[in-house]
Amino acid sequence: MTAVVDTLPETERYARAVESSKRVRWDIEKDVIRGRRFDTGHKFLPDGLSLAGAFATLSPGERRFVSQIQGRTYANIFGLVERFINAKVLELSHDHWFGDQTALEALVRFSDEELKHQALFRRIDAMIGDVLPSGYRFDVDANAVAHAVLGKSTWAVLALTLDIELFTLLHYTQSIASDAELSEIFKDVFLYHWKEESQHAILDELELVRIDSGMTADARDRAVDELIQLVAAVDGILQAQASADAEYFAATCGRPVDDAGAASALRDGSRQPDYRGARAAPEGSARDAAVVRDQA
Ligand SMILES: [Fe+2]
Ligand SMILES: [Fe+2]
Repeated sequence: MTAVVDTLPETERYARAVESSKRVRWDIEKDVIRGRRFDTGHKFLPDGLSLAGAFATLSPGERRFVSQIQGRTYANIFGLVERFINAKVLELSHDHWFGDQTALEALVRFSDEELKHQALFRRIDAMIGDVLPSGYRFDVDANAVAHAVLGKSTWAVLALTLDIELFTLLHYTQSIASDAELSEIFKDVFLYHWKEESQHAILDELELVRIDSGMTADARDRAVDELIQLVAAVDGILQAQASADAEYFAATCGRPVDDAGAASALRDGSRQPDYRGARAAPEGSARDAAVVRDQA
């Protein structure tokens, strides 16, 4: 199936993305929320992503609370990156204004969906805030991060975006869908998100190949360095937020927490999943991470 689709002419692949986008289209309130509230009796982020098994010093209830904190942050991180993804998609749509109108429609729908996803994740943050203790902080400025990211080449931004949208699909299919103890509403948020992200990953690849075909080897080489810098910058943001989440947990879990124990495990576990390669980043990456953090 995949092989057949991959050999289709580009315009046909854009057309299929439009067709799928129309077929799966959903509404935040009517399809996802459906009048429900979050229940703190359930986990939010699955064990496969929270790495809850590493939190050996926590009780089962505390591990569930960690999954709820991390689930809230997971949703907020998506809302954060979708700001720069949407701006780049709108910029790329310019290349199709007077060309392939199907490609233009595909990117316009992509942008519309990312705006909706940002609204969904703001809604989720507020709904989780209604049921968890006060004091949670997510102080990263989406516009400042977007400005810093969009200062890199289109190739680097598209490659980062493709990576994000591919792991979004994998997180859902390999960890979220299969965890039977998860909050139904949390699971539905990422089910509906997955449905639209499936088209985005295809469009990212089409656009990345199109941009790549017009680049020199030197420009591509520089773009790869920029991609590594961006991954390191994202890692910096995740590390800072993991520390904020650990402090929130320590302040609200209801018992004194040894910083060398539970809180540091949470800090380490929260930043594990997707960016470990960033630690092999070239010189300049740490500075870039600091720039993004400082602007945020
Ligand atoms: Fe999205
Ligand atoms: Fe997306």
